[in-house]
Amino acid sequence: MKNRTKMAVFASGNGSNFQALYEATQDGRLDADIVLVVADKPSAFVLERAKQAGVPAFSFTPREYASKQAYESMLVEKLEGAGVEWLVLAGFMRLIGPVLLRTYENRIVNIHPSVLPAFPGKDAIGQTLEAGAKEAGVTVHFVDEGMDTGAIIAQRSFAVDGSDRETVERKIHEIEHQLYPESLQQLFSRQQSV
Ligand code: GAR
Repeated sequence: MKNRTKMAVFASGNGSNFQALYEATQDGRLDADIVLVVADKPSAFVLERAKQAGVPAFSFTPREYASKQAYESMLVEKLEGAGVEWLVLAGFMRLIGPVLLRTYENRIVNIHPSVLPAFPGKDAIGQTLEAGAKEAGVTVHFVDEGMDTGAIIAQRSFAVDGSDRETVERKIHEIEHQLYPESLQQLFSRQQSV
């Protein structure tokens, strides 16, 4: 039997990327299991999606903890308890701190809606459109201590061509839902063969 990677998906909102990843784990495109969903907002819709999918989920409220170190230490306990090997950020709107970075060194990935290094940080699609950029796109990258600065794993772009925000957003999501499972499958299979 194939060795399936155990991953946790971190999200803050809608969770369409969680959904795409979950479906890829079910239909054979991604040899991995999402063993935990972590949300930093108890009202995040991703929690409803996790429930529907039968994936264990956990939410917390960062401001109820004394520090990032305190809530990340609590998360490490949950993640290790679930046997999590990789952290997959999918719309998680919070910087990862030293406790998680140390525990999951080189095993944290993120997806970002721009062609990095252009437009890191919040509202990357808004930034792209406001700057009048010719191209929009998506980057999958490793997470380091910076804001969207880690080594790039995969990128895909398309011409904006005067499209409105709704159209650009839809294209970005379409790309993300394909590119993220594909990139993770490559990454995990490389890991297993070393
Ligand atoms: C995605 O477009 C993702 O790239 C972006 O949040 C969206 C979440 O959508 N992430 C960032 O901007 C991180 N800086 P989803 O909740 O439907 O998956």
